Amino acid sequence: MTELIPAPGHVTGQGSRFFELGPATRVAAGEGTERTERWLRASLGAATGLALTPGQADEADVIRLSIDPVVAKDLGEEGYRLAVTPEAVHLAGGGPAGLFWGAQTLRQLLGPDAYRRAPLPDRQWRLPEIQVQDAPRFRWRGLMLDVSRHFMPKDGVLRYLDLMAAHKLNIFHFHLTDDQGWRVEIRKYPRLTEVGSWRARTKFGHRASPLWDDKPHGGYYTQDDIREIVAYAAERHITVVPEIDVPGHSQAAIAAYPELGNTDVIDTSALTVWDTWGINPNVLAPTDNTLRFYEGVFEELLELFPSEFIHVGGDECLKDQWRQSPTAQERIRELGLKDEDELQAWFIGHFDKWLAARGRRLIGWDEILEGGLAKGATVSSWRGYAGGIAAARAGHDVVMCPEQQVYLDHRQDAGADEPVPIGYVRTLEDVYRFEPVPAELTPDEARHVLGTQANVWTEVMEDHARVDYQTFPRLAAFAEVAWSSLPAPAERDFVDFERRMAAHYGRLDALGVAYRPPTGPRPWQRRPGVLGRPIDGPPPNK
Ligand code: ACM
Repeated sequence: MTELIPAPGHVTGQGSRFFELGPATRVAAGEGTERTERWLRASLGAATGLALTPGQADEADVIRLSIDPVVAKDLGEEGYRLAVTPEAVHLAGGGPAGLFWGAQTLRQLLGPDAYRRAPLPDRQWRLPEIQVQDAPRFRWRGLMLDVSRHFMPKDGVLRYLDLMAAHKLNIFHFHLTDDQGWRVEIRKYPRLTEVGSWRARTKFGHRASPLWDDKPHGGYYTQDDIREIVAYAAERHITVVPEIDVPGHSQAAIAAYPELGNTDVIDTSALTVWDTWGINPNVLAPTDNTLRFYEGVFEELLELFPSEFIHVGGDECLKDQWRQSPTAQERIRELGLKDEDELQAWFIGHFDKWLAARGRRLIGWDEILEGGLAKGATVSSWRGYAGGIAAARAGHDVVMCPEQQVYLDHRQDAGADEPVPIGYVRTLEDVYRFEPVPAELTPDEARHVLGTQANVWTEVMEDHARVDYQTFPRLAAFAEVAWSSLPAPAERDFVDFERRMAAHYGRLDALGVAYRPPTGPRPWQRRPGVLGRPIDGPPPNK
């Protein structure tokens, strides 16, 4: 039996025989397969110690890689066929991405030690005789990582890209800015990182916690770091979608450039990078100066990120300062707007047009629906399904990421030992039973659901071990939801998923992932005495 995660579409011909990889095994890489060839040699080469030297497609003892138009026709660009016989392995992708996802399946079939970075002694490397046909359900299979609340150094980000690839996830939503830190170098505005990328101290636990970590916290990615991250992702067929959050969640930027804030309401020069959590009132001023400033930011961003989609945030923008600001009120009058919601829609709409003129597409959190959705906008539906449903019905594309289901900062068990427990209990099984396409949508409307993403907000995740704990194993269940064509939630075979997870934990162990064990946190994964904010009672989606 194979124990693949995410479950493939179709598996046949499982015999009792094997293809055995050895010193003579070669890789015959057809045209267009170079990226997967490089990846196979680097990752499987390291794990097995085998050279996997170039060979010919018609030889025996060969792993043959090809791009096949028939596979593209039957299964799409991201689909693949894998055929293993005792004589040879043939992996055919509909396109280069499909081939790469097929290589991930191949690695899973080799067993957990194929995830190590150096060979263990006396291992046999066997692929079971098998035929797999597989293709993803969704084109957007995402993970959002908040590197603002806690910075994840570059090597940690590269590691997460590898973890995403191993789960056939293909969109990395990179939450680069927030009140608590600005994490990307912008040459035109050096203070964004000089001032905005660090804070003097940090709230430890939920904002109601009395604890502080008095160690300064900071970090940012240079433009070359970003280029490296984007290229590393592209090599793995992952698109990096950057997020610069406007007009709310902008205190780090205002601390660096006080003129970006509502200077007619408060003394913005007194603001510092925020050191605690929540939603704060210090939002961008809706002025021409702010628009020009952020155009300068986005100009550099577009050079760094080739992604079609650029995320502009738009969430949780408190309007109190705009209500008090004569400048903001004058702008509302001058533009003939009804209220502050329309002012935010005007602000987002500006960047919708600005991005469209440069061949890109704007995506924002579902608050961008308030005050009128910009013409070309795509919506990240996070406050439940409602925003996504409204957007899809209005003909806009949608990424489903409701906080009630796929916010991995929420605790994964009701037990008292969960570290800094936040929000609702969302177990592995809850995530496994998440359905990205709401039943209310007609088939035509449902086509606007590009896919889904899991979001990892890092207020209470101070290091990569905490991020691992919250993210895994639930990201494995999420990956199956995003990739596999599963039945309706109630009919999903969670027992079989758990059976396959038993093998998958071995892969995660070999990869060094500090996941939450099914029995609960290990002693060092607990955070006794650090206040969270558990929400009790039945989850709102049930
Ligand atoms: C969000 O969780 N504020 C998008």
